[in-house]
Parts: sequence; C-alpha cells; structure tokens
Amino acid sequence: MTVYLNGEYMPIAEARISVLDRGFIFGDGVYEVIPVYSRKAFRLAEHLRRLQHSLDGIKLANPHSESEWAGIIHELVARNDVRDQYLYLHITRGVAKRDHAFPNPPVKPTVFMMSNPLLTAPAALLQSGIACITAPDNRWLRCDIKAIALLPNVLLRQMAVDAGAAETILIRPESMTGGAFMTEGAASNIFVVKNGKLLAPPKDNLMLPGITYDVVLEIAAANGIPFEVRRIAVAEVFAADELLLTSSTKEVLAITQLDGKPVGAGKPGAMFARLYKLYQDFKRDVMRAV
Ligand code: PDD
Repeated sequence: MTVYLNGEYMPIAEARISVLDRGFIFGDGVYEVIPVYSRKAFRLAEHLRRLQHSLDGIKLANPHSESEWAGIIHELVARNDVRDQYLYLHITRGVAKRDHAFPNPPVKPTVFMMSNPLLTAPAALLQSGIACITAPDNRWLRCDIKAIALLPNVLLRQMAVDAGAAETILIRPESMTGGAFMTEGAASNIFVVKNGKLLAPPKDNLMLPGITYDVVLEIAAANGIPFEVRRIAVAEVFAADELLLTSSTKEVLAITQLDGKPVGAGKPGAMFARLYKLYQDFKRDVMRAV
C-alpha cells in the first residue's frame, strides 16, 4: 500500500513520524474519511469543507489549498491499485517539545494520507440488517470536530463488539433542554423512521455532520420522502418503525435489533429499501458526472 506523508509517497512500511508528534502525544489533530468509487473521490468538496471546519475548530491553519488536496488525493488514488477505496486523511499540529499549549512559533503540521480498499456491505447484511446497543454519550461538547482523539468513540464501539452488536447508538442524558435524546452512533449517524417519516437529529455541536447524512436528506427531499430534522427523544428511538445507520464506509444500513429487541418488524423496512436503492442510484449518477 502506498501512503502519503509530508509531501512524499512511499510504501506504508517506510512511513515514519516522530514520537513527539502532537498527534501521538495529545491526539492533537483532525481527520477525514473519503470514499472513492471507480477511482473518483465522492463529494470531495464537501469533505474538504468539513476538514476546514475541523481545522478551524482546533485553530490549525490548513496546510493545503483545495486544489493541492485534490492533487494529492488524485495521485494517491492512482498509486493504489483498487477501484473503490477509502482515503484516510490525517493532520496533526506537528512535532514539538511536549507542552499542552500550541508550539510558538507554530511548527509544520504533519500530513498523512492512506488508502484502503472500500468494501461495502455484503448482500447478507443488507438483508438481515445489523444489531446495535445504546449507551450514554460521554464524549465532549465539540463532536462536530472530526478529531483524531477518539478514545470515547473507541470505548463505545467496543461496547457494541463485546455485546455481539455492530454499533453503539449514543444517548445524551437529561439536560436543561429536556429529556434524554439521541445524538449519533460511535462512528456513524442514525436516523429514525416513524409512520413513513424520516427523523434526523440536528447538525449541532453534539454530532459529526456526516457527508452521508447530508446525501440521505438530499435524496429524501428530491424524492418526496417526508423528513424532519429535530432532536429525537430516546423513547422515539425505542418506538421506531425502522432505524437507519449511515457513514462513508457503511453507506446506508438497516438496524434491525436494538439492545437485544427487534426494531419494528425486526427486518429491514420499506424506508431502508427505498433509501438504499436511491443512494446507489445517486452514487452512480454522481460518479458518472465527475
Ligand atoms: N466515521 N459520526 C461519527 C462519530 C463518525 O465517526 C462518522 C464517520 C459519521 C458519519 O460521517 P460520514 O457520513 O461523513 O462518514 C458520523 C468514519 C467513517 C470513520 O471514523 O471511520
């Protein structure tokens, strides 16, 4: 596998960073995951816009212009011999003596990118759907930043694995704004379906603004599927007719079990079938056009 590190392309085994890198020491950095279909980056402008939002959120200057990013991505995709890939892009605040405060003057950020084959869900999983568990969302209050410091997400996802499930759906506990509500998955966004309507949590500081989430809402709007973006109470999650999970690597999946109980009829429902097909069509049309 060929990777990109600080201006150079090299085999992954040759990529080296300092132990003083602030990503290694503090988790001081941000990342992106970009799907590549037929060797073309999907929704690249949107991913680069979210990257800029994350960099702004941690007060780190963007080391590259949009066209420079596009050039690096193009080259890395070409150097990896797979049609469908997912790119992992990672920027840290660079290498400096250990001190929590930012290095002053600033040092060169570390820029790393790798590509892996993108394996979308097998047919059996599309037919069965996945099992999820719920857990309190114990992360910080800037979940809109795609930060590389993912320890809470790692522990929350592992809870699912330990329970024989695929993902953990996160519940923010009671707050001054009302009762407990759903935010997202440990590494995905979550939608609720009730009475033919798609419900989506708002893109605020408590969830990552998913690129796939946006695509699903665009598809819903374009196809007359009723939807509402608002806070979703925990009771609504458990009373859902269907639950859907989205992410760049998982695309759209049906959640058919929650905390060991069936969701709705316990099998992928009509909204999933419709959105899954529309998503595949959308992807094909977009990729043909770029
Ligand atoms: N994760 N929420 C969280 C916390 C995520 O980590 C992700 C994606 C999403 C979905 O965003 P998108 O549709 O843009 O992939 C939501 C990626 C895939 C990861 O960390 O591997």
